[in-house]
Amino acid sequence: MLNVRQVSKIYEGKIAYKALSDINLTIATGEFVGIMGPSGSGKTTLLNMIATIDEPTSGEILINGNNPHRLKKDQLAKFRRRELGFVFQDFNLLHTLTVEENIILPLTLDGKNVKEMKQKANEVAEKLGITEIMKKRTYEISGGQAQRAAVARAMIHTPKLLLADEPTGNLDSKSSKDVMEMLESINKKEQTTMMLVTHDAQAASYCNRVVFIRDGKFYSEIHKGDNRQAFFQKIIDTLSLMGGNANDLSQIRL
Ligand SMILES: Nc1ncnc2c1ncn2[C@@H]1O[C@H](COP(=O)(O)OP(=O)(O)O)[C@@H](O)[C@H]1O
Ligand SMILES: [Mg+2]
Repeated sequence: MLNVRQVSKIYEGKIAYKALSDINLTIATGEFVGIMGPSGSGKTTLLNMIATIDEPTSGEILINGNNPHRLKKDQLAKFRRRELGFVFQDFNLLHTLTVEENIILPLTLDGKNVKEMKQKANEVAEKLGITEIMKKRTYEISGGQAQRAAVARAMIHTPKLLLADEPTGNLDSKSSKDVMEMLESINKKEQTTMMLVTHDAQAASYCNRVVFIRDGKFYSEIHKGDNRQAFFQKIIDTLSLMGGNANDLSQIRL
């Protein structure tokens, strides 16, 4: 489903900075993969290149065998909207709109009629258990609900690949758990392939596999098996082995 081949990224500037070196990563259809590493290790850089927000300096990225970086601008916009879903730390909702209007937003760009769009939004909302907040505005709902709305918006086109960058970064532990359970259930029921960038070990423990990167290089990877709590402990152990700064460790919720 996703093939990252020998990808490197150099940020040009007064001083060029190599943020990623020779990253290889294959994600199979239906997999739920976490990317972890200390801050500055290149997690967001990797996600942005897969999200086609940014381009690799060398190497290539294939999504279902196609290299989206080769598409023309308008085709790329369509590809991004139809094949990919995004969830960010800050929810990225529009505050002047209701939850329902936010969820519908990607469909309005396709020129669908209002009735059809609302019906689709309500189907997604029902599946994700947020029907009761559809008419609310974003300032009337909690962070956890806002992130669930953002996930619903990301799912409206039934993307093949859902990309999430620190989706629990602004949430308390109860809301984090709700959001992660929601992602886990979408992954299982819809077989949506997911990639989660996080430095929250609890969140990462919902993944099937966690890939660790450090200083822009592959460090190691571990698989879940059938016990999430044991996996969580393995993640904590790997994080402490690989080091990082105190700030990262303080963000691990126990
Ligand atoms: N647009 C940019 N220009 C220059 N350097 C950048 C840019 N974006 C990120 N970096 C640098 O690349 C490194 C990796 O950043 P990032 O991918 O955001 O790390 P992470 O998400 O793991 O915290 C950092 O040292 C960061 O300062
Ligand atoms: Mg980041």
